[in-house]
Amino acid sequence: MTRICQLQIDRLRNIKHSKLEFSSTYNLIYGQNGSGKTALLEALYILGHGKSFRGDRVQSLIQHGQVDFVLYGEAQLDDEATYNIGVEKTPYRTKIKINGQRQHNASELASFFPIILVNPDSYDLLEEGPSIRRQFLDWGLFHVEHSFHKHWHTFNRCLKQRNAALKSGDPETICRSWDTLLIESSAQVTESRQHYLQELTPWFEKLLNFLEYPYQVQLKFVQGWSGDLDYGAALNQSFQRDCMLGHTSIGPQRADILLEVYSKEAAEILSRGQEKLLVTILRLAQGLLLKEKTGKHSIYLLDDLASELDHQRREQLYSLLDTFIQAQIFITATEQEFLPNKMTSESKLFHVEQGEITTLADNNNRFLDN
Ligand SMILES: Nc1ncnc2c1ncn2[C@@H]1O[C@H](COP(=O)(O)OP(=O)(O)OP(=O)(O)O)[C@@H](O)[C@H]1O
Ligand SMILES: [Mg+2]
Repeated sequence: MTRICQLQIDRLRNIKHSKLEFSSTYNLIYGQNGSGKTALLEALYILGHGKSFRGDRVQSLIQHGQVDFVLYGEAQLDDEATYNIGVEKTPYRTKIKINGQRQHNASELASFFPIILVNPDSYDLLEEGPSIRRQFLDWGLFHVEHSFHKHWHTFNRCLKQRNAALKSGDPETICRSWDTLLIESSAQVTESRQHYLQELTPWFEKLLNFLEYPYQVQLKFVQGWSGDLDYGAALNQSFQRDCMLGHTSIGPQRADILLEVYSKEAAEILSRGQEKLLVTILRLAQGLLLKEKTGKHSIYLLDDLASELDHQRREQLYSLLDTFIQAQIFITATEQEFLPNKMTSESKLFHVEQGEITTLADNNNRFLDN
């Protein structure tokens, strides 16, 4: 099963130096505001992505007064092989090594092990514009369907060229010289996305039911142009407008997912806690679908999962994790009592205080002196 077995963190945010061993099931982390819980999850995420989920500025990740940060982790993937991963960053240079081999592209890491992140920014999935929901779809497709990346890349390359021609007012034949490839790749991208959402829906509904979610939530795919026309015809129809705008106004670059409750936008109806449950369910469903389709286990980083949830909802959510997610899970909370109280065998408890991370207990609450 994919898991991060060990991690050493040096000079990342307020964590000066920490060396940790993790459980392959639950890793429960608590500590006060500002103690370094999210920083620890960030370190795990960077190990899997080469970059943070909190902006791209390396300078803000490096501990004040220091010049670099270093992460060194040991991961086991589904093939049971062990990988040593090193990430070293200064504002000017990134050095990534896997089993001692220098990687020249941070994206090498991204396909290494899938990470499902739920954090306070996950609300953006409901509240922000469509690009984040496209990313959500595409994340799933990158991991599930290998050919998707190729079509997606072709589409974006053609779109860029077409937009550049439109912007500089080139003749119609030049502007439209990309259309055949654009239409072809658009069909692939759109079909994959639509299919992905269809396959995600049963998992999504299963989890909603498990939590006795108070509403029926509809997931609807929006392809990015009027559904009555094929993309070629739609491009014809909008060509004059696109010339005036200086870019291609319709297509998969406008795709979206509508989340509806009683035919209204979910974000306008749901309470904060209901939103939190919904975005959590969407992310977890992605992990479950990935597992179903590829056998790959994701690693789950659940930051501040308890906040905004009442006691009953929290317990239901923990019971859902227990029932559906057989994977390595990291959960943070400000208080120990907000964490799942059932320590399963092999789970571990960590306390974070001013950047110091202490392993408090492993299975059966056996306290360690550390
Ligand atoms: N580059 C940096 N160098 C040193 N400290 C930093 C740096 N960047 C952030 N910090 C501090 O590191 C601490 C840990 O932040 P972190 O977000 O991990 O806290 P947290 O435990 O998740 O808190 P919360 O419960 O509020 O989410 C904070 O006090 C923050 O101000
Ligand atoms: Mg935090």
